[in-house]
Amino acid sequence: MPSYLREGSVPPKRHIQFRRPDGGLYAEELFSTKGFESVYSLLYHLRPPTATLDVRPWKRPERRFVANEPLRNRHLKTQSLRLTGTDPVESRTPLLGNDDVVISIALAEKPTEYFYRNTGGDELLFVHRGSGVIATQFGDLAYRDHDYLVIPTGTIYRVQPSSPTRMLVYECAGAVTIPRKYRNDFGQLEEHAPYYERDFRAPILKAPVAEQGEYEVRVTNGGRNAIYIVQNHPCDVVGWDGYCYPYAFNIEEFAPITGKLHQPPPAHATFEAPGAAFCAFVPRLFDYHPLAIPVPYNHSSVDCDEVLYYVSGNFMSRRGVDEGSITLHAAGAPHGPQPGAVESSLGKKSTDEIAVMIDTFAPLQLAAAALECEDPEYFRSWIEQPASV
Ligand SMILES: [Fe+2]
Repeated sequence: MPSYLREGSVPPKRHIQFRRPDGGLYAEELFSTKGFESVYSLLYHLRPPTATLDVRPWKRPERRFVANEPLRNRHLKTQSLRLTGTDPVESRTPLLGNDDVVISIALAEKPTEYFYRNTGGDELLFVHRGSGVIATQFGDLAYRDHDYLVIPTGTIYRVQPSSPTRMLVYECAGAVTIPRKYRNDFGQLEEHAPYYERDFRAPILKAPVAEQGEYEVRVTNGGRNAIYIVQNHPCDVVGWDGYCYPYAFNIEEFAPITGKLHQPPPAHATFEAPGAAFCAFVPRLFDYHPLAIPVPYNHSSVDCDEVLYYVSGNFMSRRGVDEGSITLHAAGAPHGPQPGAVESSLGKKSTDEIAVMIDTFAPLQLAAAALECEDPEYFRSWIEQPASV
C-alpha cells in the first residue's frame, strides 16, 4: 500500500463492462481490506475467482505456546533447528507468538505446487538468504537476500525459489503499514523518512493463465483452515489497480538515521502492525560525538518484548549470538551490552551488522521449537567473568 499502482489492462472506469477479445466479460474483483473501508485494489480476471469445485479439510499441526515463565531474557539458536518440509508453508515452525503476531522460521527449497492464502491478517516475510519469485494474482514478485516482503491479507501466492531460501515469517493480526511518522498528510513518504517510494518493488504482471483445471488454494484464517479446489487459475488476471498489493523492500535500501549520540530503535523503524513495530539494523556509521559510546545503553523495555533476529555481520554488543540467532529481551528484563562490549566499542566508526527486530506490546509466548533451541544460560551472559591469572 505505499502508493497507487496500475498494471496491465483495466477499463476506463471501475464497475463498468470490460470485455475480452472474444466478447465475454472480464470478471472484476474488489480486493479490499477492513471490509470496504481501507486500502483496496480492483483486479480483472479472465473468469470469476469464485468458481469453487470443492472445499476439503486442511489438517495443520496445532500451535501451542507456553508463557515466558520464569520471565527472562532468552537466546534461541534457530540455526540448530531441523525444519521439516520443503515449502515455506508446511515448514513454517512457530517460535514465539501472541494474539497480534506469530513469529516462525521457514524454508523454501522447492517450488510450491499449491497456492496459499492467509485471510486472517497480513504476512511479513523476511528473507534471510535465498532468491526466487513469489507468484501472486498481482504478478510475480522477485525476492533476494534481505528482502522484507509485505503480503496483504487475502493475497493468493506460492513461492518458487531459485536457491534454497530461509525466511523469518511474521503472521500479523492486521495490516502491515508504513509508520505514520514517515508519511505526510497525503500518505507520501516525507523527506526525513529513511526510505522512499522508489525503494519498494511491486509485482510484475505476466500474461494471464487461461487454462481451467483443479487448482489447490490452502486457506488459513485465524486458526481455521481449508483447502479450496478452484476451477480458474488464480493468476488469470489481465490488469489491476489500487493501493493494496504485495511488495518488496530490501533493507539494504534503508538509509539509516545516525546521530551525534546513540539512536534508539525507533530511528530504525521500517513497518508497524497492530501490537507490533518492526525495525532494521543495517551497516551504518556510528555516533560522531568524540566521547560517544557506540553500543546501546542498559535498559529494560517495560512496555514491550523485543525480538532481534541476527542476519549477518559482527554483533558487537551481543556475545554468543550467531547468524540465525534470535534474542528475546522480555518486557522489564534488564539487558544491554555484555561485559567488555562498551570498552571494545569505543572509537569504532561503523558497523557492518544486519539484523531485524520486532517489538511486541503484548507478551510473547514460547512455542516448543523455541524451548528446543534455547541457550538456557543466556540470561546469565551479563555476568562479569573473573579476570584470568
Ligand atoms: Fe533492548
